[in-house]
Amino acid sequence: MKILKVAVLANLKVNAPKFEGMSEDQWDDLDSEKTVNSIMEAIRSGGNECEFLEGDSTLPTTITKYKPDICFNFSEGHFGDSREAQVPALLEMLRIPYTGSRVLSLALALDKPMTKRILWWHELPTPAFQEFDRADEALNDDLKFPLFVKPSREGTSMGISAKSVVNTEDELHEQVSYIINKYKQPALVEDYIEGREVTIGLVGNLVGPVARRMPINPDAPRVQAGLYFLPPMEVDLKPYKLTDAVYSNRLKVALAEELDYLCPAPIDEDLVDELNWLAAAVFRVMGANDVSRVDFRLDATDNWKPYILEINPLPGLAPVISDLVIEARADNIDHATLVNMILDAGLKRYGLK
Ligand SMILES: Nc1ncnc2c1ncn2[C@@H]1O[C@H](COP(=O)(O)OP(=O)(O)OP(=O)(O)O)[C@@H](O)[C@H]1O
Ligand SMILES: [Mg+2]
Repeated sequence: MKILKVAVLANLKVNAPKFEGMSEDQWDDLDSEKTVNSIMEAIRSGGNECEFLEGDSTLPTTITKYKPDICFNFSEGHFGDSREAQVPALLEMLRIPYTGSRVLSLALALDKPMTKRILWWHELPTPAFQEFDRADEALNDDLKFPLFVKPSREGTSMGISAKSVVNTEDELHEQVSYIINKYKQPALVEDYIEGREVTIGLVGNLVGPVARRMPINPDAPRVQAGLYFLPPMEVDLKPYKLTDAVYSNRLKVALAEELDYLCPAPIDEDLVDELNWLAAAVFRVMGANDVSRVDFRLDATDNWKPYILEINPLPGLAPVISDLVIEARADNIDHATLVNMILDAGLKRYGLK
């Protein structure tokens, strides 16, 4: 079998630009050298060659020099409201294959209100919402307190804490102003789903003639062929009920190693089926590729009805602690195998394997 040259594309925290007025969590989404090194080791252990290239403005030069057969892309980008789509856009311009979702899907998935409009149109369950460009916009009649306020285009729960749950117009106004001013983007206000926190990881691609639309007929067969579902993971938030209530930035960054991750989550088979189907449906309507993680809340007030919060087409791949890696481990899939499964999905898609 031919040895492939694989360029590992990511944005390292240590290489991230610094600028005046930068907030403490500005680069929480970016990757550590440890993560990048573990991915390179994984690719080498699969018998291929690889090199790390920073996914920034140096890339056009470095990639033309390295001439990879394929890129393992998980660049989050630095600036701009479609920053996760910038590297894929460049790669398409240069006609270089890459793993993971393409330009449109990454741009859409980074923008939670746009994602929710698509889910809503497909009648996929996601909390009712309103996007606030200004803090003094009137609240829509269909939204009832308690509500949840978050940035429209961030990850790693940036801007999310116990204060994100608001109970009055004053609290709403204060939190929406905080998000707009600090993150320089619209605030997304949603119905607050009180309940459990579950996430579903999947690897692969739907096979067959897959339209982006969901079947209109609810009785149509649920086609999921080609996707490999990892076991659902639940984050046990009970110990943090009074301090955080939700999977906050503090829990993801400062306390990541202390949390109790339940994997496989203790939920019944029918609900796992439903979550897998919903995750596949989101993957499908968003046009995602190769890998994704779909985050859910299960409503404690409505028989654990699942609500889709978001899709992460570039899920964290930190060895040991990333959600997707925990899910894989629960399925006896180690980090290196997971990385090579994602690479394989990309290679197959391009007909390189
Ligand atoms: N409508 C909601 N109701 C209840 N909790 C919510 C809601 N929206 C978000 N949360 C809480 O905030 C957390 C982070 O939200 P979300 O997944 O949208 O943000 P993120 O920063 O993009 O996450 P990630 O780190 O997965 O990229 C959720 O895991 C959940 O605990
Ligand atoms: Mg999330």
